[in-house]
Amino acid sequence: MEKVIHKSQRENWKTKTCKGHEYPFGTKNIDCAVIEINGRHPVQDWYRNTQVDEMIYCKSGHGRIFFRNEIYDLHEGDAIFIEKGLWYFWGEESKGTFVAMCNPAWSAAQGETKKVSDIVSLTFKKVPKKDKDQLLKLIDIVLKGLDNPQYFIPYEQWEYDSMFDEKNYAPLYGAYDGDKLVGMAQLYVSQTMLADFKKDFGLPQSTQIAELGGNLVLPQYRGLGITTHLQKKELQIAKDRGFDYIISMAHPDNIGSCKTLERVGLEFVGEQKVANGFLRNLYMKKLK
Ligand SMILES: CC(C)(COP(=O)(O)OP(=O)(O)OC[C@H]1O[C@@H](n2cnc3c(N)ncnc32)[C@H](O)[C@@H]1OP(=O)(O)O)[C@@H](O)C(=O)NCCC(=O)NCCS
Repeated sequence: MEKVIHKSQRENWKTKTCKGHEYPFGTKNIDCAVIEINGRHPVQDWYRNTQVDEMIYCKSGHGRIFFRNEIYDLHEGDAIFIEKGLWYFWGEESKGTFVAMCNPAWSAAQGETKKVSDIVSLTFKKVPKKDKDQLLKLIDIVLKGLDNPQYFIPYEQWEYDSMFDEKNYAPLYGAYDGDKLVGMAQLYVSQTMLADFKKDFGLPQSTQIAELGGNLVLPQYRGLGITTHLQKKELQIAKDRGFDYIISMAHPDNIGSCKTLERVGLEFVGEQKVANGFLRNLYMKKLK
């Protein structure tokens, strides 16, 4: 048997960021659709097929697909295979036309959407040395994907070498999805490293300060309260260790970073270029 479905006979549907054009062949084992994506899809949640495997070919434009473990970019001529059961969403930067083929044939009824907070169950703990590779991968992914390179003062080699030195450099805590490290935060405690910042904050050199920093969260895990949780933990450590002040700095345009600092109770004290030449909002809190 053969059958042709013309463009005018397609079954169309649309959401705020996606238009779908289905070819209703009525076949059980395979189907095909053209989807036009323009922004995050689904708009807020994550999606998965529960019964069908899917192949998606990029006809034009660009799509960025976020999975729990990886992020993939699709450009014209690229294709991806997505096995049933895997949660994903299209990132807001996606804009293009794609051809999707499923086996068995796709149906809306077998698709499932959920809030990310209902899919992942996060745990928080000190990052152990055995997770060094994961840590470096996390840093690499987040720093490569920064909206503005000015948002993060790059690590120096001695800092990479000191990642697990919590006495002389920084206690390091992480957020985990299962065994996967998805977010991190540090509490810088070296008074030598912080000496110039004491000047920026108008604090005498004799003051003992700690700095909240190293806040890096994988894009697909943002907005879940990871940084807020980790910073509260680091604040408590700073109090327990007897520091006089806790300080932190964030680029004025880095809304997420500024907001988390205000959320955990640090006060905005001004905006200036700091000792290392970066423009920063300064935040601080007296601990004693
Ligand atoms: C900045 C960053 C660490 C925030 O981490 P996060 O775990 O997503 O933050 P939280 O979920 O704890 O968010 C705390 C608050 O900030 C808000 N927020 C976070 N990111 C935001 C953004 N990009 N725009 C607006 N608000 C944002 C959250 O909505 C939340 O407020 P709410 O509870 O009132 O809604 C994360 O976006 C990131 O890794 N960015 C890239 C690296 C970076 O810039 N790091 C900072 C330099 S140290």
